Amino acid sequence: MKDLSTSHLLGIKDLSLNDINLIFKTADSFKEVINRPIKKVPTLRDVTIANLFFENSTRTKLSFELAEKRLSADIINFSAASSSLNKGETLVDTANNILSMKVDMLVMRHPHSGAAKFLAEKTNTIIINAGDGTHEHPTQALLDAFSIREKLGDVSGKKVVLIGDIKHSRVALSNIFALQKIGAKVMVCGPTTLIPKYIKKLDVKVVHNIEEALKWCDVANMLRIQLERQDIQYFPSLREYVSQFQLNKEILEKVNKPITILHPGPINRGVEITSEIADSEHSIILNQVENGVAVRMAIIYLLAGSVNRT
Ligand code: CP
Repeated sequence: MKDLSTSHLLGIKDLSLNDINLIFKTADSFKEVINRPIKKVPTLRDVTIANLFFENSTRTKLSFELAEKRLSADIINFSAASSSLNKGETLVDTANNILSMKVDMLVMRHPHSGAAKFLAEKTNTIIINAGDGTHEHPTQALLDAFSIREKLGDVSGKKVVLIGDIKHSRVALSNIFALQKIGAKVMVCGPTTLIPKYIKKLDVKVVHNIEEALKWCDVANMLRIQLERQDIQYFPSLREYVSQFQLNKEILEKVNKPITILHPGPINRGVEITSEIADSEHSIILNQVENGVAVRMAIIYLLAGSVNRT
């Protein structure tokens, strides 16, 4: 078996195209496994994984848990709200205490950008970044690209637009890195105030008109407005945002071509996308969630190759 070129998954930036292809090939096998009547393999029976979630999550947390269980790993779950962090314990002390219980791998979501890299440098274990602040969400980008590949046969050469709050989105940054490495063309679309200035350095097309974006793309990945990360108001009102950037039946009829629609969740129905479109035949939103388990199984399996089991 080939190995990944990295011993952690901190961001897509660190992965090579070979790494991504290896993850996809491995995920293909695990997707077949999780569609069997017995959805489990004994592969990681001797591996223990801790899931450290310092920020809310539904999809990512449950998807990692299920991926670990399908691989027969032992798992423990840590939730910041009920932990000794409230008594002043540091992140590194918390992690090292968990690791001293013979834990082999940490999956971590944290509100601060760079937290996963920091922990990888300060501890002696394998770290998987489950989303760090506004920085990266690598497993989301991999499952998004895997889902596009499944729907359209290939990602290379496809035109993908990310629409919405690019500035506060770790999904956007990881998607840009992943899609470009695979050979897709990437555009971002949103209000000027929600497109970060550094985007120009990433060889990404920028537009502020959803009709123009939809006319250009094969795939639209809709991002929600991250009000919880916004310290100031970035547009006059939600109604104004909806009138200019919502994906709905009217704008899709105007564009009049098939567009594959993704959304990482959680969806704000009636804001960035209408229910009618989120649940339509062109939407692969629930396929993304299904594929998330297979992709995360692949990542955990490949990284666990370096666990010392003697
Ligand atoms: N897509 C995503 O990260 O969703 P959660 O915040 O529910 O994990």
